[in-house]
Amino acid sequence: MRLMEEARVIVHTEFGGGYRRIVFDAPGIAAIAAPGQFVHIRIPQLSQEALRRPFSIYRSKGRELQVMYKPVGRGTHVMEHAVVGDVYSLLGPLGRGFPVDRAGIFPVCVAGGYGVAPLSFLAEKLECPGVVFIGGRKAQDILCTEDFAGLGWDVRVATEDGSVGEKGLVTEAFDRWVAARAPGAMAPEIYACGPERLMHVLTERAARHGWQAWLSLDRPMGCGIGACLACVQRVRDANGKQHWARCCTEGPVFDSKELVWEAADLKKASTN
Ligand SMILES: Cc1cc2nc3c(=O)[nH]c(=O)nc-3n(C[C@H](O)[C@H](O)[C@H](O)COP(=O)(O)OP(=O)(O)OC[C@H]3O[C@@H](n4cnc5c(N)ncnc54)[C@H](O)[C@@H]3O)c2cc1C
Ligand code: FES
Repeated sequence: MRLMEEARVIVHTEFGGGYRRIVFDAPGIAAIAAPGQFVHIRIPQLSQEALRRPFSIYRSKGRELQVMYKPVGRGTHVMEHAVVGDVYSLLGPLGRGFPVDRAGIFPVCVAGGYGVAPLSFLAEKLECPGVVFIGGRKAQDILCTEDFAGLGWDVRVATEDGSVGEKGLVTEAFDRWVAARAPGAMAPEIYACGPERLMHVLTERAARHGWQAWLSLDRPMGCGIGACLACVQRVRDANGKQHWARCCTEGPVFDSKELVWEAADLKKASTN
């Protein structure tokens, strides 16, 4: 079910790392939102523009729905000036989120950039804590560590400049952790959201080790409801037959076994 809701801004603050956090009063969407789903936001000052902007749901509690965003372009630079009391049209919750009902698993989250937002929401809903890898270029890019730590997760941080946590890419920290695991240790179930390169690496690692992985893809979106085909991703079904899937309705979260990537991207991922 998806709703169109006129949502009032009730909090709008800085979040760190150049991100901002908006809390909307959106009781309808908040009541049914699940981790990994997103809302498609119409920015009132751009009302002459048909296109909404997609944002992952960071939290939903009671009447409140939160997103965190980075001002990167026309729409988000306008959003930066939102004040308490402004009313935004929200369409959502949209898309297929992360599965949360998988009992007895050992969850391992891997986040890059704002990918940490839906994973933090996921951590809140999973039955038991696991390990989370959070990557960024520098210390300021590392967000939400306290969310996970507060839930008892083992938080591993990697920054490219080494200013906090392990130096290097988040995938390198992940690979080191994998290599250090005891033989016969319980297989992790991977949940990830971040840049596409991260998805290539995790698809390759999941296939190599035979692990289950749920990967959230970020595609530029138009309609958000399956009508425009702006957001397609090549996938294969259980019989190996390939087709184009719409990330806004069949995703953004996919089982890594479904995803079809360019052979060159997977080859590069295998040597990363
Ligand atoms: C499912 C989904 C969830 C998302 N969740 C979040 C989130 O939680 N927080 C957040 O900050 N952003 C998120 N994004 C990205 C966000 O939608 C874009 O940053 C936003 O639409 C840019 O709008 P704009 O008008 O400011 O930028 P535009 O003027 O449209 O574009 C400005 C720049 O941003 C780039 N851009 C536009 N769309 C995207 C995109 N989808 N991904 C990456 N770069 C883009 C453009 O290439 C361009 O360089 C998400 C995107 C998707 C598809
Ligand atoms: S954004 Fe239009 S089909 Fe996905």
